[in-house]
Amino acid sequence: MKLTIEDVRSRFIKHFDGTTGSIYASPGRINLIGEHTDYNNGFVFPGAVEQGIIAELKPNGTRKVRAYSIDLKDYTEFLLDDEQGPRATWARYIYGVCREMMALGVPVEGFNTAFAGDVPLGAGMSSSAALESTFAYALNDLWGENKIEKMELARVGQRTEHKYVGVNCGIMDQAISVLGKKGALLRLDCRSGEYEYFPWNPKGYQLLLVNSCVKHELVGSPYNERRLSCEKVAAVIAKKHPEVSSLRDANYEMLDEIKSEITDTEYRRARYVIGEVARVLAVCDALQKDDYETVGRMMYETHYGLSKEYEVSCEELDYLNDIAKEEGVTGSRIMGGGFGGCTINLIADELVDNFKKVVTEKFKARYGKEPILIDVVIGDGARKLC
Ligand code: GLA
Repeated sequence: MKLTIEDVRSRFIKHFDGTTGSIYASPGRINLIGEHTDYNNGFVFPGAVEQGIIAELKPNGTRKVRAYSIDLKDYTEFLLDDEQGPRATWARYIYGVCREMMALGVPVEGFNTAFAGDVPLGAGMSSSAALESTFAYALNDLWGENKIEKMELARVGQRTEHKYVGVNCGIMDQAISVLGKKGALLRLDCRSGEYEYFPWNPKGYQLLLVNSCVKHELVGSPYNERRLSCEKVAAVIAKKHPEVSSLRDANYEMLDEIKSEITDTEYRRARYVIGEVARVLAVCDALQKDDYETVGRMMYETHYGLSKEYEVSCEELDYLNDIAKEEGVTGSRIMGGGFGGCTINLIADELVDNFKKVVTEKFKARYGKEPILIDVVIGDGARKLC
């Protein structure tokens, strides 16, 4: 069910002193293509979704943040000036955003807050970025005179992941959560920070997420280790090609030159990234020509790469990809960090109903539970609701 302002407001009133504050929202995201390219300084091509986080905040005249997670029914308090911060992970996201906004010179004060979300957790749709962006946007509005520009708000969220949660993520999730625009995908150059909106209005096709419900958890996952492999390979290439500062600058020939100096695993991972950076640009070109067959083919290539080269898939996601292929789905692949979560599927309109039926039946027959199907609607980025 869609989360509403009233769901959050009623709890805020109940939980605190009966008064109301300001309400903000930020979305989760899909990513059409460009996976594990962001921390390699490459391109990504995400879009914001309608699902997200809604939070109500009200200054409380102290140095204390009193936070209530409506979904977890969990309450925590922390002092803005405390060096350690709270222990609960959900609260560390809020604490991290407060601290990083303060480090940018925003005179954040204590506040009461209650929040809830309807981005499925662990689905690879960036529920944590939605939480970070909501608070970064809100604090900028309440105490920062909206002076901090949007890309910097995204970096506040990213630094929160790095410093307070321990996930060395790229910038994609936070950037799209802040910059998202209804009806448009965003091509972001993760090195320069430049971006361009592409209208997403596919004629005769739609996007469907199939959530395997295998819990995706990047904290403590091999995600950070993937990033390290990429950085290592880039450093080895740079010894011969000093112009290469990340895999974004590398090509297959350069990689082959240094093959004997790296492990097979590192070679495969780097090969995937080099191919994926190029695929994002190819997909953007294809979209401008309404060439959805090429978009779809690239999505399957990405899935193959994520599964066999980058090794961030799992049996359930590979099975969902196989079903999509058998049913004539135009494009299908793992979405997000991997290790569980969703596939994203580009499907011709006339095949959608049948695919939904078949994928549900087959997945249930093999794993004993139905996958969750989510029709993708591209929505807006971070904003104040009232
Ligand atoms: C996670 C990270 C992103 C990105 C994706 C993979 O969502 O937070 O920065 O690396 O995985 O593309």
